[in-house]
Amino acid sequence: MKFFVDTADTQEIRSLAATGLLDGVTTNPTLVAKSGRNMLDVIAEICDVVPGPVSAEVAATEYDHIMREAAVLRRIARNVTIKVPLTPDGLRACKALTSDGAMVNVTLCFSAAQAILAAKAGATFISPFVGRLDDIDHDGMELIADIVQIYSNYDNFRTEVLVASVRNPLHVTTAARLGAHVATLPPAVLRSLFNHPLTDKGLASFLADWAKTGQHIEDTKAGAATR
Ligand code: E4P
Repeated sequence: MKFFVDTADTQEIRSLAATGLLDGVTTNPTLVAKSGRNMLDVIAEICDVVPGPVSAEVAATEYDHIMREAAVLRRIARNVTIKVPLTPDGLRACKALTSDGAMVNVTLCFSAAQAILAAKAGATFISPFVGRLDDIDHDGMELIADIVQIYSNYDNFRTEVLVASVRNPLHVTTAARLGAHVATLPPAVLRSLFNHPLTDKGLASFLADWAKTGQHIEDTKAGAATR
C-alpha cells in the first residue's frame, strides 16, 4: 500500500519524506489556500522533495479551461499529477490528459458508479472521500470495498484506488485490508500510525535495564568498547 500525505505544508512534507515512507503528495485548493503561498511555487517545491506523484488540482470546471490549467501545471515537473473533479468536463479532460501521457487523479468521488466512469476515462487514481461520507452517516469504507471489488473484475481498469478524506488510523488499516492501492493521509494521521502505548512502555523498560549494565555499543577497533 502506498502512503501519500494530504497537505501543502512543505515543512511537514520535508519532515515526513525523511521517514522514507512517503510515496506521494496530494493537495487541493483548500490546502493551498491554507499554505498562504503561490500554488505554482508550492507544487514545484513539493515535487523537488518527493519524487512520487504530486497531485495539483485545477480550479477550472469547463473542459478547455481545465486543459489550459493542466498544461501550466504539467510544466512544473514530471511527477505532477493533474487533479480534476468528477464531472463530465473533468472526465473528458482526464481521458485527453492520460491519453497524452499525464497522470490524472479524479477527485470528489462519492459513489461506485462515479468510480467506474473514472476508470473508463483512464484515470491514474480515483479519490473516494471516506471521511466526508462518514460525516453524513454513510459508510465510506463500504464504498472503498465496492470500488476495489469492481475494479478487480476488469483487467482493463488500471485505475488505482486512492483513499482520501482519511480521518483516523482505522480508515488506513481498513483500506489496507480491503486492498486499496493508496491512502492519502493528513500529517497528524500519518504520524499517529507510529504510536502504541506498549511500544513506549517496552522501550522505556529496555532502556532502563540497558542503563543498569553500564555498557555502550561501540566499535571495539575504535578502542572504546565495553564488553
Ligand atoms: C484528497 O485528495 C483531498 O485533498 C482530501 O483528502 C480531502 O480531505 P477532507 O475531507 O479532510 O478535506
